[in-house]
Amino acid sequence: MIRFDILTLFPDMIKGLLSDSIIKRAINNKQIEVNLIDFREFSTNKHKTVDDYAYSGGAGMLISVEPIHLAMKTIPNLNNAKKLLMSPGGKTLTQEKVKELATFEHIVIVCGHYEGIDARILNYVDEEVSIGDYVLMGGEVPAMVIIEAVSRLVPGVISSDSPIDESFSSDLLEYPQYTHPYEYDGFKVPDILLSGHHANIEKWKRYQSLKKTYLVRPDLIKKAHLTLKDYQMLWEIKNENK
Ligand code: ADE
Repeated sequence: MIRFDILTLFPDMIKGLLSDSIIKRAINNKQIEVNLIDFREFSTNKHKTVDDYAYSGGAGMLISVEPIHLAMKTIPNLNNAKKLLMSPGGKTLTQEKVKELATFEHIVIVCGHYEGIDARILNYVDEEVSIGDYVLMGGEVPAMVIIEAVSRLVPGVISSDSPIDESFSSDLLEYPQYTHPYEYDGFKVPDILLSGHHANIEKWKRYQSLKKTYLVRPDLIKKAHLTLKDYQMLWEIKNENK
């Protein structure tokens, strides 16, 4: 069981994720628990505002540290939790990081919004995490990315053979997969997949994985754990259209 506490000004944005499909089932099965905390409720002024002008001047408002800190202090066992701030200024999330997060029993996620948060929030979290080199309007979608990516690694949440084969977990992108019909709009399923020849099919899958990764994400090829056979296939791939 992993417990997530999400501190946000927009809890409704996240409710959709929790009320459908695999995440809903995981919550019902008590494999995960997700608490949404609206830190506007912890504003100490009568208008319930949570933002203010930046000391450095310039356009826009910043979220104050106090309401977030007060909200955090209501979370039980906070000291043992992994505390994250979603921010484009953090280290980029990778599957490796997701695996590390999945080892915690309790994850607290702070979602910023608007122009940013008073930098003193960093005294109350363990790290800043970005989901990629682009800027979103707030941390809610990134927090949902963490919930999804971590939850599917919790034993029993998805069928146990699924996470192994797929993109990134094996260093390479996934090979193409097909279902019925055999021919659609003139496009056929590769005949090798109907051959019943298990060894050749495995070879084909590896070749397709290597080819896709070579063409789309050559950076991953450099980091992948490859065998001599893989290098021979890569050589073939590079020479395919020569
Ligand atoms: N907030 C805004 N953009 C973000 C990003 N790319 N990752 C995490 N949090 C964000």
